[in-house]
Amino acid sequence: MNFLSERKINKIMNSVHKMLQFLRVSPIKRLAGPRWMSDAPKAPLRKMTALELQHLKRKGKRISMLTAYDYPSAIHAERALFDVVLVGDSLGMVVLGYETTQAVTMDEMLHHCKAVRRGAPTRFIVGDMPFGSYETSPEEALKNAYRFIKESGVDAVKLEGGKIRADTVRKIVNSGISVMGHIGLTPQGISVLGGFRAQGRTAIKARSIIDDALALQDAGAFALVIECVPSIVAKAVTDAVKIPVIGIGAGPHTSGQVLVYHDLLGIMHHPHFMKHVPAFCKRYAKLGDDINNALVQYRDEVVAGDFPTEDFNPYKMSIEEQSKFKELIAVDESERKKNAEILDTKLRQQDEYEVVKLY
Ligand code: KIV
Repeated sequence: MNFLSERKINKIMNSVHKMLQFLRVSPIKRLAGPRWMSDAPKAPLRKMTALELQHLKRKGKRISMLTAYDYPSAIHAERALFDVVLVGDSLGMVVLGYETTQAVTMDEMLHHCKAVRRGAPTRFIVGDMPFGSYETSPEEALKNAYRFIKESGVDAVKLEGGKIRADTVRKIVNSGISVMGHIGLTPQGISVLGGFRAQGRTAIKARSIIDDALALQDAGAFALVIECVPSIVAKAVTDAVKIPVIGIGAGPHTSGQVLVYHDLLGIMHHPHFMKHVPAFCKRYAKLGDDINNALVQYRDEVVAGDFPTEDFNPYKMSIEEQSKFKELIAVDESERKKNAEILDTKLRQQDEYEVVKLY
C-alpha cells in the first residue's frame, strides 16, 4: 500500500474534485455525476483534518459546521459538503425530547455518532462528550474519548468548559485525540449558569472568556466553539487565538459558524421546538410546516379512502393467475362466510358488553 499513501490519495481526490468543478460550469455538466455533486459548493470530496481546519483560519477562509444526529441528517450534511459535522449533545433536546442536554448518556451519543459516521463518511465528524463523561478526572475523560474514537469512528471530540478543563484537554490531546473546546454558554452547566443565558456581557466576564480560550489553545485544543456571547467578545477571542473559533449566537467575526440542524431547517410544530429555537438562529426552511401539512393530508386521504389508489399498487398478477385465484377461493367460500358470520356475532356481543360497561 506504500505506493498509495494518504497524500497520493488526497491528490487524486483533489484532481477528481477539480474535474467535477470544471464539469459544473461546462456545457456538458450533465455528465458531472449525481445532482448533489454538481450543485455542491467548492470543498474537498474527502475528509478534512484538524490541521487543515486550522489552515483555513490562517488563510482567512470561513469554516462551515452543522450538527447531525442520525443517518438521514448525516447524508444531508455530507451532500452539502460541510467542513465539520458535529454530533452535538443537543441530540438530547432536538431528537430525544429531553428538557436539557444533561440527561444524555455516553451510550446514546455513541449510538448516534455511529449512524452519523455511516451517513457522512467523508466529513470531519466531532462527537460531543456528554455531561458526566469527562468532569470527574482527566483519566475518566480519556477513557470516554477513546470510546468515541474506537466505537463510533468520529474524528475528534468536543467538551465544554474553559480554563477548568485545560488539564483534561491536554491529557486527551497528548493521548492522540483531537479536542474541540466549547466556551461562552456551556449548556451542560445550566444548573450553575442559571439557565440558557448569554455569557460575557460584562468586561470582567468577557476577559475571562478570552482567558478560557487561551488556556484551551495552550492545552492543545485544535478549535473552539463559542456560544451566545456579544459579537465584540467573539471577535476578541477569535483575534486572541490562532486556532479556529466557530460561533453560534456569537456574531459575524468568528472563523466559522455552527447551527443546530433542526433549528435552521425550521422543524417546528413540535411544541418542544417552538419553545427552544434560539433567537440567534436564522431559519432557512420551514420543514416543520411542510411535514405537518404532508402528514395531515396523508392521514385525511387514508381516512377518506383516497389513498392508496390502484396506481400505487404496481404488483400485477397475470389474467391467467387471476382466474386460477378466483377458482381457488371459490372452493371454500361458503365455509369462510359461515365462520365470518360467527365471528361477527361474537365481536358485536363484545362491543355491546363494552358499551354497557362504559355507560
Ligand atoms: O450540542 C450542540 O449541538 C452544540 C452546538 C450548539 C455547538 O454543542
